Amino acid sequence: MSFPVHRKRRLRVSESMRRLVRETHLEPSQFVLPLFVCPGEGVRKPIGTMPGNAQLSIDELVRECEKTHALGVGGVILFGIPESKDDEASEAYADNGITQRAVRAVKQAVPELIVMTDVCNCEYTSHGHCGKVFGHEIDNDATLDWLAKAAVSHARAGADMVAPSDMMDGRVGAIRKALDAHGFQNTPIFAYAAKFASVFYGPFREAAESTPQFGDRRSYQMDPANGREAMEEMRLDLEEGADLLMVKPAMPYLDLIRQARDRFDVPIGAYQVSGEFSMIHAAARNGWLDLDRAMMESLTSIRRAGADVILTYFAQDAARALA
Ligand code: PBG
Repeated sequence: MSFPVHRKRRLRVSESMRRLVRETHLEPSQFVLPLFVCPGEGVRKPIGTMPGNAQLSIDELVRECEKTHALGVGGVILFGIPESKDDEASEAYADNGITQRAVRAVKQAVPELIVMTDVCNCEYTSHGHCGKVFGHEIDNDATLDWLAKAAVSHARAGADMVAPSDMMDGRVGAIRKALDAHGFQNTPIFAYAAKFASVFYGPFREAAESTPQFGDRRSYQMDPANGREAMEEMRLDLEEGADLLMVKPAMPYLDLIRQARDRFDVPIGAYQVSGEFSMIHAAARNGWLDLDRAMMESLTSIRRAGADVILTYFAQDAARALA
């Protein structure tokens, strides 16, 4: 039996009716805001490629975190831009590195806000790659030690969660082992499990000053064509001790968010990356899209696909829109 008995439009007549039967809801508590922290004081250096975002010195970062928390946003993820870079990514795992100092300051000022740290080396290496370089190769196993040390230093500074984004094999296991050995058994690992070698990270690389000086990241980040392999990456990260699994980017990979949600019974995160954010802004600036509606529709699609946690540069704006 179908038309005229069935008319789907009956439940779409008004906003009240639509709200009653809505399947997918967004909550600010599920959002995580990425923030960039740099040396100095009173610094707020706008990132040209990402409207509304800036590199922040620690004092400004603390202010931003207070605001973020007041809006009900669940957490922040911190990316450090160090004073100086070297071949050994030294500041990535220094106890008084920029990220470590930022974590301490934020946790002291806003203890209830979840503070995550991005565990990676590309912002800290002079060559901009995520790992230790020998010749023109990125050495997997030699990089694990840096990552483990960085994660422990973040936990020691008070990070609530560490999020490795480097895509070296075995890094989740190495980080779990190191955290446990240093008494951080209760620090969860949010694995960037299915992270693709994506063009949509373009604007971020200006923000984090992390563009590789030679080659690209395709020997460690995933081929955008591979969905089965993404599930295998996730399974391995779970086996190694990941507590949450991430798909990144989000909108071009909604199918994989859905598959991950159906397959794994842990929280699934999705990262709406810089390019996804910036292209919505660019279209809105041209008058081609309504910014607020594009923001909410994109976030709703990511949630509907199955993401429990969404990392997004829209976190504050979306929280305001939901208030
Ligand atoms: C570090 C890292 C990147 C992003 C998050 N962590 C850049 C990259 O892998 O090149 C991208 C985030 C974004 O584009 O918003 N490895």
